[in-house]
Amino acid sequence: MKVLSADFVTSAAAGGRADGIPADGLGQIALAGRSNVGKSTLLNALVRRKLARTSAAPGKTRLANIFRVTVEGGPGGPGRWALYLVDLPGYGYARGGADSAHELAAVASAYFEAGLKAGAPQQGAAMPEDARRAGPQAGGSRATLLLVDSRHPGLDSDVQAHRWLSRVGATPWIVATKVDKLSRADRVRNLKDLERVFGSAPLPVSATGGEGLDELWRLIAKAARESRS
Ligand code: GTP
Ligand code: MG
Repeated sequence: MKVLSADFVTSAAAGGRADGIPADGLGQIALAGRSNVGKSTLLNALVRRKLARTSAAPGKTRLANIFRVTVEGGPGGPGRWALYLVDLPGYGYARGGADSAHELAAVASAYFEAGLKAGAPQQGAAMPEDARRAGPQAGGSRATLLLVDSRHPGLDSDVQAHRWLSRVGATPWIVATKVDKLSRADRVRNLKDLERVFGSAPLPVSATGGEGLDELWRLIAKAARESRS
């Protein structure tokens, strides 16, 4: 698989207008997770470019950054195909963690609400009433990856974010980041813990070592392809 292009498209500000969020039928994959969990690094590893900034101070970025990616072949092939990857701001930098759902809602609701307005089908079972009422699909299919640090399974903030995403109809896939930092024994135990907490097996990845990136592309391609005609 070859990544032909990867370009910044737009940012959706917290609480701001969601104008400019693409609704052109291409699939959109959003990366959510705590600040520092590795969202931007994973996005860069997927597109094999330094596209998203990875060194920003936690909590500074209040924007959902949207990138358009064109790919040749691979799991979404044959031929050329395109999708959007969305780097969401992190949560969890506020003290405690009890408010992570609030925080995520504050920074990401413009993005998710735009999806509801466009009537895009959300991944997962139940759709909120608003989404059902929104009628036929205008945007492409949307999927959310919830990145959780494989070293810290079952953090309150992640559990709350998972709940919030599910409630807005964006039930996420769980991606366990930084598995290169775990011993074999911790890896087995933590992945099991994550599965128990979130109710489905997480996909283990390492953006720095490359583990799991092919599997993640397969998942992304499947989600993105559902919207292609
Ligand atoms: P915010 O933008 O603040 O929400 O953070 P983020 O989730 O985008 O995290 P970012 O990608 O900036 O990565 C945070 C730190 O984790 C950086 O120092 C990365 O180098 C490191 N990191 C990210 N992925 C991995 C990984 O797979 N393995 C290891 N060892 N380090 C990683
Ligand atoms: Mg980031």
